[in-house]
Amino acid sequence: MAKNNKYYILFIALSAALGGLLFGYDTAVISGAIGNLTEFFHLSPVETGWAISSALVGCLIGAFFSDFLSDTFGRKVTMFITAILFILNSVGTAFPTSFTMFVLFRIVGGIGVGIASMVVPMYIAEIAPPKRRGALVGNYQLAIVIGIVVVYFVNYFIALQGDANWNLNIGWRWMFGSEIIPSLLFLIFIFLIPESPRWLFHKGETSKAIAVLQKLNTAEEVAQVQSEIENSLHQEDKNQWKHLGSSMFKKALFVGIGLSILQQLTGINAILYYAPEIFKSLGSSTDVSLLETSILGVVNLIFTLFAIKLVDKMGRKPLLYIGSIGMTIALAAVGLFIYFDAVGNWVLPFLLLFMGAFSISWGPIVWVLLSEIFPTKIRSLALAISVFIQWVANFIVTQFFPTLVENQWLKDHFNGAFPFYLFSVICLFSLFFVWKKVPETKNKTLEQMDTLWK
Ligand code: GLC
Repeated sequence: MAKNNKYYILFIALSAALGGLLFGYDTAVISGAIGNLTEFFHLSPVETGWAISSALVGCLIGAFFSDFLSDTFGRKVTMFITAILFILNSVGTAFPTSFTMFVLFRIVGGIGVGIASMVVPMYIAEIAPPKRRGALVGNYQLAIVIGIVVVYFVNYFIALQGDANWNLNIGWRWMFGSEIIPSLLFLIFIFLIPESPRWLFHKGETSKAIAVLQKLNTAEEVAQVQSEIENSLHQEDKNQWKHLGSSMFKKALFVGIGLSILQQLTGINAILYYAPEIFKSLGSSTDVSLLETSILGVVNLIFTLFAIKLVDKMGRKPLLYIGSIGMTIALAAVGLFIYFDAVGNWVLPFLLLFMGAFSISWGPIVWVLLSEIFPTKIRSLALAISVFIQWVANFIVTQFFPTLVENQWLKDHFNGAFPFYLFSVICLFSLFFVWKKVPETKNKTLEQMDTLWK
């Protein structure tokens, strides 16, 4: 491939990945603001819960409509819509006239996240050459993680700016308002990238599709890629629902849903969202707990970079194996230290091991696999269903984690270690799931995915 194509494709992938950055930013921003919000609006515990989980409700709604939008209007217009939602969200949550207004705008932002979480990886997979697809889609996960880490620092920096009074009345507005910067960047970059050639072919816009292919591929490759896409579209049926019932597609959907659920049941978001609380309950002061949380974020970032380097060379499955084994051991160890009250300095290193193991494997690779395993006939619908279920699983884990921690019976019998044991067992199970059910997709074209399930 010519050099300029390589950089052009990277530019496209990074621009789209800004949608991932907003995903991370939007889901993590609340952590720094929630204290002041609770005081400012005099929230009850239930309302506080709502301030946090309303975004996840939006994510479910967004994921639900993502297939319809991206199929009908195209990937570019759909990303444009999410950028608008992100802008509305940042203004609306920075200057809400009431708490209800705040929640409504959190839902609006969540809808943006839900749609972006489906359309962005799909779009990147559709423009990427097979040999670099893993790394390019991996950039999406990298962007999510950068979004999370950046917002931790933004929140921290904003909190340092004023006295308690300023923080209570103004500080949190800056936290939400600052999201407008990445949102505007996303909006601008969407104008500079092409529509997905696969969607253009699918809509019969052949000449436009070829023009895009010519920008992405060398002259020799264009004809081949075109004929592959056209062949697989030839068999495409407008009604994707009809195909979901066939045994071959059921298998693919089963794997997609399984990957989504297992990624969430590793407990990653329970640990990310509640990290400061976990560290505090283990004896750290507030400052130290925030620092420890930032270290988790940095490890997440570094190991995602390793994954991007390795995914197209080693393949998807070996990385998933490494991740499952690392997470199983790390979580079991954390559980044992808590159980035997031997917390000391031991928990942080094992949580870091967990984080590293997740970040080099299940974090990025699940997004890579979801964007590529589905046969063209059902890709957008199957992806939307899997992503929707991923948000459901995310919601369940984050809602019930505090209960698992607080439940008296579990406390009496497991001394606080239960959630970690549970996640550890699930990670062990995930190893078998990958071994038995997940196909290797390294180096295959998206059109060749059709043959994976025969
Ligand atoms: C993956 C998960 C997401 C999680 C993130 C953390 O993107 O899908 O739920 O927050 O990893 O790095």
